[in-house]
Amino acid sequence: MTSIMEDAPILMSMTYASRANPGVSAKDFNEILKQAQVNNAANGITGMLTFNKDYFLQTVEGPRAQINRLLYSLIADQRHYDLQIIETRELKYRTWSKWSMNYATPTEKNAAIYLKYSTTVDFNPYLLSAESARELMNELSDQRD
Ligand SMILES: Cc1cc2nc3c(=O)[nH]c(=O)nc-3n(C[C@H](O)[C@H](O)[C@H](O)COP(=O)(O)O)c2cc1C
Repeated sequence: MTSIMEDAPILMSMTYASRANPGVSAKDFNEILKQAQVNNAANGITGMLTFNKDYFLQTVEGPRAQINRLLYSLIADQRHYDLQIIETRELKYRTWSKWSMNYATPTEKNAAIYLKYSTTVDFNPYLLSAESARELMNELSDQRD
């Protein structure tokens, strides 16, 4: 027997950290963000992206096939390197359903949030647990609302 539910794609979430290549600037960040928002709207992907110093931390969520395709693109993207997956998991519900790509960059207002999740002098997402990465993204997003 078939049902509509069986045809529904399995949703997954992936969170990773990476480092911007030298020369990648705030202007490049805006281009990456715009490209992500346009592509994601077409691909059923939602998420949250942060850029601090030269680190990216991103969560993408959507149909498993689309997230895996995006992973190949991200690894091949010369604007960053050393992509390390922090977490993948299956989702019942999206966290970032309202955003094709929500984002946060360092501001005076959110400095304390980054500091709270820094175990070293500078913010370093490679050192975050999956749970901390999730909490950080949520706090940064709440602060923007
Ligand atoms: C930090 C970072 C985050 C990115 N996030 C996304 C994203 O959420 N969705 C997306 O489609 N592309 C994203 N990209 C761009 C992809 O790596 C790739 O360039 C793009 O998907 C290629 O598709 P296009 O040539 O059809 O635009 C990101 C790139 C970087 C460096």
